[in-house]
Amino acid sequence: MKPSPKKFNNPRARHNFQGRTCSILAVGSYVPERILSNADFEQLVDTSDEWITSRTGIKERRIAAKNECTSDLATQAALCAMARAKVTPEQIDLIVLATITPDMPFPSTACLVQEKIGAHRAAAFDIQAACSGFIFGLEIGQQFIMSRTYDTVLVIGAEKLSSIINWSDRNTCVLFGDGAGAAILRHRPQAHGLLTACMGSDGSQAGLLCMPGGGSSCPPTHESLAAGMHFLRMDGKETFKNAVTAMHTAAVEVLRRCELDITQIKCVIPHQANRRIIDAVTERLGATPEQVFINVHKYGNTSAASVAIALDDAVQNGRIHRGDLVLLIVFGAGLTWGAAVIEW
Ligand SMILES: CC(C)(COP(=O)(O)OP(=O)(O)OC[C@H]1O[C@@H](n2cnc3c(N)ncnc32)[C@H](O)[C@@H]1OP(=O)(O)O)[C@@H](O)C(=O)NCCC(=O)NCCS
Repeated sequence: MKPSPKKFNNPRARHNFQGRTCSILAVGSYVPERILSNADFEQLVDTSDEWITSRTGIKERRIAAKNECTSDLATQAALCAMARAKVTPEQIDLIVLATITPDMPFPSTACLVQEKIGAHRAAAFDIQAACSGFIFGLEIGQQFIMSRTYDTVLVIGAEKLSSIINWSDRNTCVLFGDGAGAAILRHRPQAHGLLTACMGSDGSQAGLLCMPGGGSSCPPTHESLAAGMHFLRMDGKETFKNAVTAMHTAAVEVLRRCELDITQIKCVIPHQANRRIIDAVTERLGATPEQVFINVHKYGNTSAASVAIALDDAVQNGRIHRGDLVLLIVFGAGLTWGAAVIEW
C-alpha cells in the first residue's frame, strides 16, 4: 500500500509501508458508579454549582468505592477494550499503564492488572507523565509494534484521584474524578493508524502541580501527613496559562508534520481538565466547536484516563468512524504535554 499523498503526509510511512504501522484496534473505558455532583460539593466546602460550572464546565465526577483501586478501574477498561478488539489475554505482549495514583508505590499497577486480566505472557510496567500519560503510553506502545518487537500492546490510563485529593481544599477538590480508559494497539494491514505523536516536558515548572509527600524526598511521617504533603497541590492560574500554550503548540506541531490543516480533522479530543482551557485551545487552533469532543462536564479531570475515556465516548457516540482523522492533545504535571494524529 502506498501512502495517500493527497490526503495527508504520514511521517512514519517511509519505504512504502515496508515497515509496520500501529493502529488502535479498539478502546474501552470504565468509570465508577458513584456520582458526586456540584450540589454535593456545596455540602462539603464553601462553593457553588454556579462557580464550578462557570470556571471549569464540570457538573459532576465519578468517585471510586473505598475498596475499588486504580488496578480495578484499569482492569474493567482493559477487559472492555479487549472484548471489542477480540483480543485474548494470552495474545497481549505488553501492558503500559499510565497513572499518578498507583495502587501502591511498587509493584507496578500494570503488574496487578496483568494478573487480574490473566495476561500471563505480557511484560508490564507503569509510566508516569500525569495527565499526559495516555499519549506517552501510545507513543511507547507504537515503538514496540513498529520495531516488530511485539504484536499486541495494551495501553491504559487509570486514576483514583479521589485518593490524593484534599477534600477540604475547594481550589482543587472540585476539579478531579476517577476512571480508566484503555486501547489495544496492533499493526492493521493497509491502515495508517497512529500517524505521529509529539511529547514534551519542562521540569522547571514541577512545583505548579504536584504531590510533595510520599516519595524519597518526603517519606510519610506524622508531620508530613499533618502538613498535608500527601495531597495534590496546584497553582491553578499558572497551570491554566501553561496548559493553553503547550496544548496549542503540540497540536500545531503534529498537524505540521502530517501536512494537515485543522479543517481536515474530524474530531479533536483535548485533555478534559477545564472547559475554559478547551475553549481557549479550540479558538487558537481555529477549530469549530463541532469538531471538538467534550465530556469534562460528566467526569471532571481524570488525569491519565482523561483522553482515553473521551476517545471511547466519542467512538461510542458515533463521532468517529473508520478513516476519520483524530487529533488528541494532552497536558499535565511535570510539566508534560503532547499531541497525536490518528487515522481511525
Ligand atoms: C482552578 C481554576 C478553576 C480557578 O479559576 P480562576 O478563574 O483561575 O480562579 P481564581 O484563581 O481567580 O480564584 C478566584 C477565587 O475563587 C475562589 N475559589 C477557588 N475555588 C473555588 C471553589 N471551588 N468555589 C468557590 N470559590 C473558589 C478562590 O479562592 C479565589 O478567591 P479569592 O479571590 O477570594 O482568593 C483555574 O485556575 C483552573 O482551571 N486552572 C487549571 C486547573 C487544571 O486544569 N489543572 C490540571 C491541569 S492538567
